Amino acid sequence: MKMTAKYSQIKKQLHLEKSNKFKDGVAALTHYWQSNGEDSGKYFQKDAEAFLQLAAEPEFHYKLPFEYDVPFPPMKHPDFTFIDLFSGIGGFRIAFQEQNGKCVFSSEWDKYSQKTYEANFGEVPFGDITKVEESKIPDHDILLGGFPCQPFSIAGVSKKNALGRQHGFLDKTQGTLFFDIARIIDAKKPKAFLLENVKNLKSHNKGNTFKVIEETLKELDYNVYSKILDARHYVPQHRERIFIAGFSKEHFGEQVDFAFPVPPEGEKRFGNILEKKPEAKYTLTDHLWNYLQEYAKKHKAKGNGFGFGMTDLNGVSRTLSARYYKDGSEVLIPQGKGKNPRRLTPEECKRLMGYPKEFLIKDIGVSDTQLYRQFGNSVAVPVVKAMAAAMMEVMKSYSKDKMEEQRKEREELLKGQKVKAEVN
Ligand SMILES: C[S@@+](CC[C@H](N)C(=O)[O-])C[C@H]1O[C@@H](n2cnc3c(N)ncnc32)[C@H](O)[C@@H]1O
Repeated sequence: MKMTAKYSQIKKQLHLEKSNKFKDGVAALTHYWQSNGEDSGKYFQKDAEAFLQLAAEPEFHYKLPFEYDVPFPPMKHPDFTFIDLFSGIGGFRIAFQEQNGKCVFSSEWDKYSQKTYEANFGEVPFGDITKVEESKIPDHDILLGGFPCQPFSIAGVSKKNALGRQHGFLDKTQGTLFFDIARIIDAKKPKAFLLENVKNLKSHNKGNTFKVIEETLKELDYNVYSKILDARHYVPQHRERIFIAGFSKEHFGEQVDFAFPVPPEGEKRFGNILEKKPEAKYTLTDHLWNYLQEYAKKHKAKGNGFGFGMTDLNGVSRTLSARYYKDGSEVLIPQGKGKNPRRLTPEECKRLMGYPKEFLIKDIGVSDTQLYRQFGNSVAVPVVKAMAAAMMEVMKSYSKDKMEEQRKEREELLKGQKVKAEVN
């Protein structure tokens, strides 16, 4: 019987981990492998071959089929394809793979997040998305992007500027990472997209930033829906995030029957995610604990609510942030009288964000500090799972016949508009 090689063996044989200088080469190669001879592979083949010639083994037979010995291997018979932008460690990917979707492109520039991602999915994301041409991205059904909450500098909507130009709103987002999402949607026209950001995106700059984002997406010919969802119904953490879902009018027609998921009743219990015997190093030192108490006292005196968050084991925690590694102050765990509280372990962060058990974080060469940052930046996976399921309802309800019907309707509508314009 022919033995199938394993992904981990081939990776080792090619010393991929040491190919840091050729990160996008490794990205191309791992993307090419994942395509498994499917259409998306053609986008990466040339760069994958060049990388093998240049950095790895020119003789290597890269077309070998092999077994993916990673926790979340690519789907063999997918129902749809998607791309994972600002992928972080792949919270979106887990949710959409579970719906039998296949990821055909990922991008994340942080090298430690890339490491965690590769260990779990067998794929190295491409780097800086602002440097990726749309033509290098395979066609896909759904675009996913939890884009960073960078300080936005999107100018207010001005009708005057938007008029008479094909992409007035798109121009307004230039220089922001949202612009990169919009230009990829514009070029690739996915059937749907799902974007995620902090709750404050909605109120930033008196609501103008969000308005520009929404208008831009609408102008790209999508029905756009947005809602703030709190993860507390899915994981024991208060975490409010805005989710923006879009469905292409070209594909689904003018009316889309989309509903945001209804969260399950009740809340989760924080105590349930705790490890039985966390290592002593997670207990706060006297120095740090005193500092946090003093700091809280000072701010309380000034009438500010900022301070540490001692978590109620029967309740839900505060929002885990990307700076949790600094002092862990927002989510502290009481350890009884006479003992300083402790911070969460990375494994507990993983649980607090609703990552599945199989998700690998141990022995992958990523430090606790980096793992705290990665989870703090990430999504509560069960919330995205609920969003993915809700979006699938729309995707599935559009049979080929119905889509054809919609397409014809739309053609008629456009024809009508043209005739009207000519008459005018
Ligand atoms: C809010 S996090 C998204 C995390 C992700 N949703 C997850 O499940 O882990 C945003 C990510 O975008 C990445 N990022 C920021 N600017 C980028 C760029 N120009 N190109 C690629 N990735 C970028 C950051 O490193 C960060 O991991």
